[in-house]
Amino acid sequence: MIFNAAVAEAKRLQAQMALEASLSIEERILRGMLATPSHLAQQIARCVGRLLDENRPIRYCEPFMGTGPFYSALRWVVPREAIESATGIEIDGESARAAAGLWSGEGVRIFQGDFLEALDAQPPLARPNLVMCDPPCFKPEQLKQSYKLQLQDRVMKAAGIRVSPLAPYYVYAFLLAGEWMEEGGLAAWLVPAEFMSSKYSDPMRKYLVERTSLIRVHRLDPRTAGSEDVWISSAIIIYRKVLPKKDSKVLFSFRGPLSDPVISQEVALGELAGNPLWESYPFVRVRTEEEMAGGKKEGK
Ligand SMILES: C[S@@+](CC[C@H](N)C(=O)[O-])C[C@H]1O[C@@H](n2cnc3c(N)ncnc32)[C@H](O)[C@@H]1O
Repeated sequence: MIFNAAVAEAKRLQAQMALEASLSIEERILRGMLATPSHLAQQIARCVGRLLDENRPIRYCEPFMGTGPFYSALRWVVPREAIESATGIEIDGESARAAAGLWSGEGVRIFQGDFLEALDAQPPLARPNLVMCDPPCFKPEQLKQSYKLQLQDRVMKAAGIRVSPLAPYYVYAFLLAGEWMEEGGLAAWLVPAEFMSSKYSDPMRKYLVERTSLIRVHRLDPRTAGSEDVWISSAIIIYRKVLPKKDSKVLFSFRGPLSDPVISQEVALGELAGNPLWESYPFVRVRTEEEMAGGKKEGK
């Protein structure tokens, strides 16, 4: 049967609505099950699609897959033949079953279980060269102490990085997935924008600056993000897993679609490395009233 991306996405949205109807919003927040808005997944996939090397078969992984909005969006931009393997990782049984129903016909392998278990799966899951995801935003107090210690230990072993016990879940997931990915791979993450300045996200920013070629950081305007589920301010990170060139620049943007942001600024990597407050980018200089009054006079 010929694959129709629009039909597949409509079916996915139906499955997602059915899942949402079976749980209260409080329960979904508690279980980190807030769905990714389709338009965001599609913007991200389009941007990533332009960065893909056509000659390199895609080994895709979508951790925290839910019903697979990113895989769905990927299929709008690349044909099935371009994808050598695809894996989704999802802890929730109902969501994993829904994802399997939607995507296993496309050859997507769904691993139902915890992300950490997926990293240890036997036989091992294919190491991805393309990752797109929207991880759950569990706060540190929502993580069991033993699980948190396990996460800390895993990040230390995999990346040699100490993560603060005050860090939320996505910091660990981000670092672990980064280490798991193939060299040269591309990653796109939708994470809370607080990663740009919070102290416990220092290891994430340091990782991006020192161990990856960071391409984009786009901050969403929470008031226009397009879904009431986007209840915190989010940011999109896109990077390639290759050591950075010293003179490289990163595009920071804010508001509007990823392809046509309202405000943007290229920031030199050297500057980023020395500034723990990435929220200051893109930098917008607001003119003082005096300057504006002066401007008016000049304009006369
Ligand atoms: C923010 S939601 C995103 C869902 C997906 N992008 C969608 O729109 O359907 C995070 C997803 O991660 C799953 N999840 C939470 N903790 C997990 C874990 N430890 N390992 C794997 N999946 C997990 C949740 O069940 C949820 O489906």
